[in-house]
Amino acid sequence: MAESLIIDQNLSKEEKYKALVPQIEALVTGETDLIANLSNMMAALRQGMGFFWVGVYFNKEGQLVLGPFQGPVACTRIPYHKGVCGACYTRRETILVPDVEAFPGHIACSSDSKSEIVIPVIKDGEVKLVLDVDSDKLNDFDEVDQKYLEQLMKLVESWY
Ligand code: SME
Repeated sequence: MAESLIIDQNLSKEEKYKALVPQIEALVTGETDLIANLSNMMAALRQGMGFFWVGVYFNKEGQLVLGPFQGPVACTRIPYHKGVCGACYTRRETILVPDVEAFPGHIACSSDSKSEIVIPVIKDGEVKLVLDVDSDKLNDFDEVDQKYLEQLMKLVESWY
């Protein structure tokens, strides 16, 4: 297992993802524990991409429950009908929110959070978890984030 990440912070966003994704793949190779791998993946994403908050919510007990994350403390349980995470669970697709204030029902775990992207992991017809990434800048996520984060969530899907 690799023990440190090498990401040049002067790279463009896409170049950072291109450098980071193979390092994350190497980090999880040989380990089968879901929580261990998600924990390292969240740490690598925060360190490599400089995200304000990145983490997962598991679909369990009839709601979304906080899992491995990096960043400020967060709400632990989200009902399916609430927030961007709940909308992602219900719509079963990636949701990009350029301005969280303009998203009806957004849950503000931190008032510093300004934009957000949420991606589902679906296996055997069931949403297993959602990945939530928050930024303290408006309009910080685009199709580049969507492409590489969806690629990483395909990897997570393969662990189920
Ligand atoms: N903003 C999310 C809640 C999770 S936190 O931001 C970490 C939402 O609206 O679902």
